[in-house]
Order: sequence, then C-alpha cells, then structure tokens
Amino acid sequence: MRLAMGIAVAAALLAGAAMADDRMSRTIGKALFERAWVPAPSSTKANDGLGPLFNARACASCHAGLERMPVTTDPTGKVTGESLVLRFSDGAGRADPVYGKQLQTAAVPGVEPEGRIALSVAGPVPHDLEGPVGEGTRYGARIAPALRGLGRLEAVPEDELLKLADPDDSDGDGISGRAGFVYARDGGYQVGRFGWKASAARLSDMVEMAFSTDLGLSTPGRPAPWGDCGEKQSECLAAPHGGDLNTPEITGELVAMIRDYLAAVAPPSREPTAENAEGTALFANTGCSACHAPALPSPKGPVQAYTDLLLHDMGDELDGGATEPGVDSREWRTAPLWGLSRILASGSGLLHDGRARTLDEAIRAHGGEGRQARSRYMALDKDDRERLLAFVSSL
Ligand code: HEC
Ligand code: HEC
Repeated sequence: MRLAMGIAVAAALLAGAAMADDRMSRTIGKALFERAWVPAPSSTKANDGLGPLFNARACASCHAGLERMPVTTDPTGKVTGESLVLRFSDGAGRADPVYGKQLQTAAVPGVEPEGRIALSVAGPVPHDLEGPVGEGTRYGARIAPALRGLGRLEAVPEDELLKLADPDDSDGDGISGRAGFVYARDGGYQVGRFGWKASAARLSDMVEMAFSTDLGLSTPGRPAPWGDCGEKQSECLAAPHGGDLNTPEITGELVAMIRDYLAAVAPPSREPTAENAEGTALFANTGCSACHAPALPSPKGPVQAYTDLLLHDMGDELDGGATEPGVDSREWRTAPLWGLSRILASGSGLLHDGRARTLDEAIRAHGGEGRQARSRYMALDKDDRERLLAFVSSL
C-alpha cells in the first residue's frame, strides 16, 4: 500500500517538473496501470476513491499482460473473472436509471455490488440483481480487448478514415462503413476509434472512461466521483469519495502518463509470411479486406491493423443489445485483426462478447454488411478455406 501511494506521489511530483522525461513518465504510467486502487476512507477524503461501485481494482485486472483474457466461470456458470463486462442502455444508448451504464460486480464496504454475470446458453446475462432494470433497458456483454498498438491507431489521420467511409453505399458493394463521431475532450467531435463501438476518439478519453466506469474513479473529463452510480442509487451516490466535482480523484497528469504508456506499446502483428501469399489473396478476394483494411496510412508509416476503424451494421447475428448514443446495437467497429494469433493462443473468445471459440465460428457470425464475405468464405473449397484461416490465424 505504501509503495502504491509512493507511485501516486512520485507521479504528481514528476508531472510538476518540466524536465520529466518521457521514459520515466511511461514507467510511472505502467505502474499506475498495474496499481490496485483502494476505496476512500469513510472519515476523510483521500486521493484514492475506488468505487463506490467498481468492477476491478486495477486496469491490469482486466487487461493482464495487455492481452485479451479468457472468460472463466464457476461450476454453476457464473463468470468469475472481471474482464467480461455487462453494459446496460435503452435503444438510444441512454444508461439505465438504476444500474447506470455498466453492471458493477464489486463495491466498497457498506454498498452492495449490483449483481453478477452468468453465462447462459443464450450468452452472458445479469444474475442476482438487487432489483429490476428500467423499462426499455437492454443489456449486452463486452470483453476487454488486448491493448497493443493503440498509439498507432491514434496516429491515422482522420481524413484517411473519412475517405474509406461510404455511409450510403454509393459504390453498391453492400458495405457501408461509417465514421462514428464522438466528443473528444481535446478538440470537439472527432471520429471514434477505440472500444468495440468506437466510443472514444482519443486514447486519453478511453482511459478516463475506464477510470469512471470500471474503477469508479473520477478524472478531469469524467468528474463525477461516484462513477457509474445510477441516478436512482442513493446509497451509492452517498458513499464516501476520494474527491469532489472540482477535485478529481485522478489528475489529468496521471491520465496522461497511462495514456503515454499505452500509446508507446508496440503493435502485436507479424508480417504475413511468404507461405501465406495465397491466404493473403483469399483474404482480399473473399471480401474480408473491404472492412479489415490490411493497412492504414499514417505519418509514421503504414498501420497494419486489418481494420478501417469504421462502424458496420453486422445484422441481427451480432446485435449487442446495449448500445451507445448514436450507434445502433448491431453496429460495431471493424475489429483489428493484428494480434489474432496471440488471442487464439490465449484461449479467449472472439467477437465483442467472446462468444466465438474458433475463427471459423467468428466468421460464420458475420451478418449484415458482412454477409456477402461470409457466403464467399463458406463457398470456398476445403483447401482454400484452410489457407484463409491459416493466414488470419497468423496475424
Ligand atoms: C472490469 C474490466 C476492465 C477494467 C478494470 C479496465 N478495462 Fe479497459 N476495457 C474493458 C472492456 C470490456 C473494454 C471494451 C469496452 C468497449 O468496447 O466499450 C475495454 C477497453 C479499453 C480500451 C480500448 C481498447 C481498444 O482496442 O479500443 C482501452 C485503451 C482501455 N480499456 C484501457 C483501460 C485502462 C487505462 C484501464 C484502467 C484505468 C482499464 N482499461 C480498466 C475492461 C476493463
Ligand atoms: C462488413 C465489414 C466486415 C467484413 C466484410 C468482414 N468483417 Fe470481420 N469483423 C467486422 C466487425 C465489425 C467485427 C466486430 C464484430 C463484433 O465484435 O461483434 C469483425 C470481427 C471479426 C473477427 C473477430 C475479431 C476479434 O477480435 O474477436 C474476425 C476473426 C474476423 N472479423 C474475420 C473476418 C474475416 C476472415 C472476414 C472475411 C471472410 C471478415 N472478417 C469480413 C467487420 C467485417
């Protein structure tokens, strides 16, 4: 504990010093990412202030080693790890009046956790809720993605993404990716690029969202110290906090250090090898690359993430229930495929809620704008299908 407090103090000092060097700042960012935060004491306000409701104590609990983690359950089917979260919203993306935006499975002493997640045959469902959800509230699960190469995704100029967008499908190819504009704290509305639904344009905004929703810690951009307490959760709203609306629990400097740490993490991808030349061609001919763009331009060279970062309607097959303002529940950001070999090796599931256990299952779940590519994939002969799968699995 003392060590952890030391990190926060060192970070605060460093942030003040104009000479703070980048490497040192990233080292502290990493320590903050791995740090287990603690609740505010009930008597005094302190600079922590985890909760009152939270999902995990540390960023790294859900993003261990920056990899996607497998979802684990107990023998009765209740989810035991933290990296799968359950989101609530109405059809327009508004949070639930009681549960807020996300089901928090943990709470500080004196406050009840909101419930748990259970894996049913139909997928993840809320379990043990303290009361009913609001009228019109839907839910849907999201798995914590791997966090590699995010600085590269942030470096792609916005106009390059807009060039790829074709919201009205004017070229008639059945694919109409659109840029999802979201409010960015440093610079107004920008194209969203982080999160399964592209809900943050800047990495720093995503870090602030995570502090607020997953840890119940406030930041300058998300100043409510009660995090994701619903407007009708009086016990949660009244619990002790580590800050108030004018004094965030986490300062902007600490947010920036975590951001800088994550931004510097190298992409996971490998260069496609020569044996994969046929697979590469099949990836294009089957139509995968129409969304999973092999490379995006950036001032620092091509970003080989296999995504266009745009939102696509993936049909009823991938209707995610809960959604975000301005984004349909069937719309998802094209998932980057770099690092897929690591994800497959880790045994964690594919797609936004980890439902697909194999690559084949993930492709077969593509509906909506992805339907044509799925059909072409299914029409491939066995050898070609295996070549394509081998290529994608090698990324
Ligand atoms: C309870 C588990 C959990 C915790 C704790 C958590 N995250 Fe996440 N993280 C997620 C999930 C789930 C998503 C996907 C969210 C979405 O798509 O809406 C995510 C997404 C992200 C992304 C976007 C990645 C991408 O590919 O677009 C970043 C960046 C991130 N988290 C950083 C953090 C940081 C920094 C912290 C700590 C302040 C943190 N996370 C804490 C579960 C967690
Ligand atoms: C219309 C655009 C589109 C096309 C075409 C498309 N995809 Fe996707 N793909 C997506 C989107 C969007 C997601 C995220 C969906 C979700 O998580 O629910 C996704 C997810 C995936 C995933 C899961 C990644 C992860 O991180 O879990 C894989 C694997 C994948 N696609 C492979 C393919 C392959 C192979 C093809 C060609 C046969 C293909 N896709 C064609 C848009 C597309």
